[in-house]
Amino acid sequence: MRPWRLPLAVLLVTGCVRPSPPPSLPDCTLSTPLPPGVPGSPGHLVVTDLHPDGTSELALVMRGLVDDAKVARAAVLEGRPVPPRWSVQRTMRCAWPTAAADRDEKFDALAQAYLEQVRTLESNPADPRLAYTHVLEGCLACHQTMCPGPIDLIEGLRL
Ligand code: HEC
Repeated sequence: MRPWRLPLAVLLVTGCVRPSPPPSLPDCTLSTPLPPGVPGSPGHLVVTDLHPDGTSELALVMRGLVDDAKVARAAVLEGRPVPPRWSVQRTMRCAWPTAAADRDEKFDALAQAYLEQVRTLESNPADPRLAYTHVLEGCLACHQTMCPGPIDLIEGLRL
């Protein structure tokens, strides 16, 4: 190789070898603005079999939580590790609810308390049954405060 070519070769090689950083998940807190027009936002409700009249983004996140809870419940009962879902579930803090005013500080505090319990359940706790029960209590704490409709469904997810 001619000497003048070396810098280019080094550049190319280091460019290929250096791993690019993983894409960072978007921040998701109470102060994250909700983008208008996304599926499940006001005026853009999502029609599903369960919701022929359309449903909100948050309600869809909640349906995901129900599925996740069923998977977690089976894992706990069978003594397997619970698959990690915190990074998906935390989007509850920045999803459009049916009523935009529901996304307030009270809701966010309850969401954070719930998500802490999810974290604990996913981090190989000493007592997975207790950790799972605490997750369900996190669901109930919020639903008893602001949306009592699904309480029976949540009770049905107990061990
Ligand atoms: C921080 C509050 C909060 C937590 C924690 C929470 N929910 Fe919800 N949930 C809501 C709100 C608010 C709604 C109404 C959403 C809307 O109207 O857009 C809802 C809606 C629902 C619905 C109805 C969805 C539909 O199809 O309309 C179900 C089912 C549900 N939640 C289950 C759960 C379960 C199971 C958990 C725990 C694994 C949980 N929720 C945790 C606040 C919460």
